[in-house]
Amino acid sequence: MASKDNGERDTLTIRDNRTGKDYEVDIHEGDVIRSMDLRNIKVHEDDFGMMCLDPASTNTASTRSAITFIDGDKGILRYRGYPIEQLAERTTFLEVAYLTLKGELPDQSQLDAFVEDVTFHTYVHENILKVLDGFRYDAHAMGMLISSTAALSTFYQDSKNVRDAECRWVQMIRAVAKIPTLAAFAFRRHRGLPYVYPENELSYTANFLNMLFRIGVKEYRPNPVLERALDVLFILHADHEQNCSTTAMRVIGSSEADPFVALSGSMAALYGPLHGGANEAVLRMLGRIGRVENIPAFLDKVKNKEEKLMGFGHRVYKAYDPRASIIKRTADEVFEVTGRNHFLDIALELERIALNEQYFIDRNLYPNVDFYSGIIYQAMGFPVEMFPVLFAIPRTAGWLAQWEELILDPEQKIARPRQVYVGFEERNFVPMEERGGEVSAGAQPVVV
Ligand code: CMC
Repeated sequence: MASKDNGERDTLTIRDNRTGKDYEVDIHEGDVIRSMDLRNIKVHEDDFGMMCLDPASTNTASTRSAITFIDGDKGILRYRGYPIEQLAERTTFLEVAYLTLKGELPDQSQLDAFVEDVTFHTYVHENILKVLDGFRYDAHAMGMLISSTAALSTFYQDSKNVRDAECRWVQMIRAVAKIPTLAAFAFRRHRGLPYVYPENELSYTANFLNMLFRIGVKEYRPNPVLERALDVLFILHADHEQNCSTTAMRVIGSSEADPFVALSGSMAALYGPLHGGANEAVLRMLGRIGRVENIPAFLDKVKNKEEKLMGFGHRVYKAYDPRASIIKRTADEVFEVTGRNHFLDIALELERIALNEQYFIDRNLYPNVDFYSGIIYQAMGFPVEMFPVLFAIPRTAGWLAQWEELILDPEQKIARPRQVYVGFEERNFVPMEERGGEVSAGAQPVVV
């Protein structure tokens, strides 16, 4: 039982009106009860016991976590306690990756060693190129990234040693280092361009931009403003606690599968337009809207539920997404270099109208991280197919941190949710010649 210093206990009393019995359930950490404590609530001794039904886990915590804190009502995001605004202003992505993975900001020598380790693991086995060459000419870059990340599992079979701390660290370095290389190779494959190998003297983001965009010159040096803007975008995307793709990472990791296949599964979850694929969907939506004059008609469709306003809304943020505010500032810096993206006017006007329309106010719908990131990526020269890929690269650090936290958490086991069965009761097999009629008598779905 949870008890306070003054002897009072934090408990919840639940009365089961079917039986008139009272049950006392401990309250932990302020306002958390354990679902397993409900199992004692039964009508008959041999009943299974009470459980919670929570589709999409909207009100169920699957873990304790010390990595990322979000207060969705106040628009707060912190990694390991540090506010996202300070990190975006004063760190580099690799510092943030280290912070996410290790729990503390690195001192100079730790950072130097981490940067060196990551830099010297950027090459991938040449046979990975054959994996990429097997794709059709128009393959989506994200599909290629998902597959080639899974393929890393076959090249690093030691990664199955998930209970060995040193071995886990090697895989984390490998993943943070190699995912940008795979992403760049997927892009070059998509474009039909020769692959550009990593250059170890460049920064993490400069090396990535070099692998993507170098054509016909000996030396490619990205504009420092764009290099920094990409680094800031990477910082903003490094982790976001228990979202869809992180949950996928944890679920796959819970079976002790190796981190590369788990990362590949997380990327697949990220790819969907409701999650990390939203940045691509935003650009396609802005393209469909085409002109500022078409916005009211488009918003009417949204209110009639014929369209979704992509890049708006969030399960957790109900005030504003702090990442979106930082991104807007980054956009200004990028557009000074690249010129203003023609979609920006449509996006700004969409935001202005949407924030004043009752439909969006009633539902707390604000721009999220994906609303402006795609416009920046486009201004920087990335094709839309690369947008979810640009989300997956930095999120790799967060996924890995969450994976290690899961592995080290003594409370965790293989993920295995319950269900409420609503199918048929037992019924007799029907031979082929007797099928095709009505549902057989007496075989009705169970009603819950
Ligand atoms: N456009 C129009 N209506 C919306 C939108 C939207 N983007 N998002 C939510 N709604 C409405 C929804 O129809 C519902 O209305 P009603 O109460 O009348 O049925 C209400 O708002 C509540 O929405 P919900 O679907 O219950 O919210 P959710 O928490 O399940 O979904 C979301 C969150 C992000 C999936 C959703 O807001 C959405 O689909 N947004 C567009 C896709 C997007 O931008 N995704 C990126 C999320 S941020 C990056 C990341 O971390 O993945």
